[in-house]
Amino acid sequence: MPNRLDLPAGFRWGVSTAAYQIEGAVDEDGRGPSIWDVFAARPGTVRDGDTGAVTCDHYHRWPEDVALMQDLGIDTYRLSVAWPRIQPHGTGPANPAGLAFYDRLVDALLAAGITPLPTLFHWDLPQALEDDGGWLNRDTAYRFAEYTAAVADRLGDRVPAWITLNEPFVHMVYGYALGIHAPGRTLMLDALPAAHHQLLGHGLAAAVLRERGLDVMIANNLTPVRPATDDPADAAAATAYDALHNRLFTDSILLGRYPDLSAYGMTEDLGGCVRPGDLALIAGPGLDALGVNYYNPTRIAAPTEPGLPFTEAEIEDVPRTAFGWPVVPDGLRELLVGLRDRYGATLPPITITENGCSVADEVHPDGTVPDPDRITYLAGHLDALAAAAAEGVDVRGYCTWSLLDNYEWAEGFSQRFGLVHVDFATQKRTPKASYGWYRDLIATHRSQIPR
Ligand code: BGC
Repeated sequence: MPNRLDLPAGFRWGVSTAAYQIEGAVDEDGRGPSIWDVFAARPGTVRDGDTGAVTCDHYHRWPEDVALMQDLGIDTYRLSVAWPRIQPHGTGPANPAGLAFYDRLVDALLAAGITPLPTLFHWDLPQALEDDGGWLNRDTAYRFAEYTAAVADRLGDRVPAWITLNEPFVHMVYGYALGIHAPGRTLMLDALPAAHHQLLGHGLAAAVLRERGLDVMIANNLTPVRPATDDPADAAAATAYDALHNRLFTDSILLGRYPDLSAYGMTEDLGGCVRPGDLALIAGPGLDALGVNYYNPTRIAAPTEPGLPFTEAEIEDVPRTAFGWPVVPDGLRELLVGLRDRYGATLPPITITENGCSVADEVHPDGTVPDPDRITYLAGHLDALAAAAAEGVDVRGYCTWSLLDNYEWAEGFSQRFGLVHVDFATQKRTPKASYGWYRDLIATHRSQIPR
């Protein structure tokens, strides 16, 4: 059995974060309000009323965080750029202080031997754009391309590869269909235009990046979908779920078409929002790499009540994270081999842009943070990645979620995903046992495999 030390030569090790989850400083240097500032301020939206106003205070403490990454020995830091720092109201000239923050950070990362891999949109839309309909409004896709140009013009001389969107599926479902995340809309299937317009934004931004000679990626949340039983009704439900969660965001970009959503009563033009030429723009000349965020597989059964064409079933007899998510490392191999089988030569190289788990970590009296469950989780998933590589999937890198414990969206500060513990009262950072484990793994892999 291949294991993590068999990952290919040149494999790039990294960590991931996102702006709203770590930066804080929401009112500084001209940043405008984002949909998360507004949503989190509404009573009852986020556990314990937590907001991202301070979170890890990374906006001020970034030198310490860069030093932690340098000691870890990573190749890649996947961060996100906060659109409301660059364009406080979502349009118009770029805010010099916003650009300057990321400019300094990029230089510090490069000086530490780390390549920045920025995501342009990780869910913190300027509130002014939401006031005009957010991603339900086609115009937001064009605004996104303008913002992309402003950031790429400033940083593109030092940053070779860019991720346009983070998890457009989760943003559509949690933000626009169910209202669990900002902007808190509860539109159910009427949320689909938010997917199309994000994808259109991806296509337009990708063209802007390519014009500047930059590499283009997207970070999709993907899950292998398992029918609950071999009953054909469960299989049909699994096919329908797979189309919505996965294929909507990969068939469009890799094949230039949307999957069959007729199980949802949807036509190919997603109820009228798709215009001629859109899918060609979305696919463009392809991706330089596909970012995959993997957390767990999904088990799907036939619906038990009218409405959606599926119901989610429990995955039984597996360990669970503190969040209650099932831990199924081999699901990562299953997912990647499945992508390769589905897309063949059109599948670009893969980078894992997120993978990790929440653990109820505590600093012990001796100052250590033992997190054996996280080490087991990471080791298992990296072994599964090596197994996928051994089966011929072109895997180029892995960024664990996350560097720091941070603001876990609607769960506030209750879920800790970091390699580094953060005391949110004092801002003290304490590397956990998993940090030392990951550092040693990176060093060992590097020493035994020529770059
Ligand atoms: C998101 C992250 C989030 C993580 C854990 C992903 O869906 O991109 O922002 O913190 O999962 O829930």
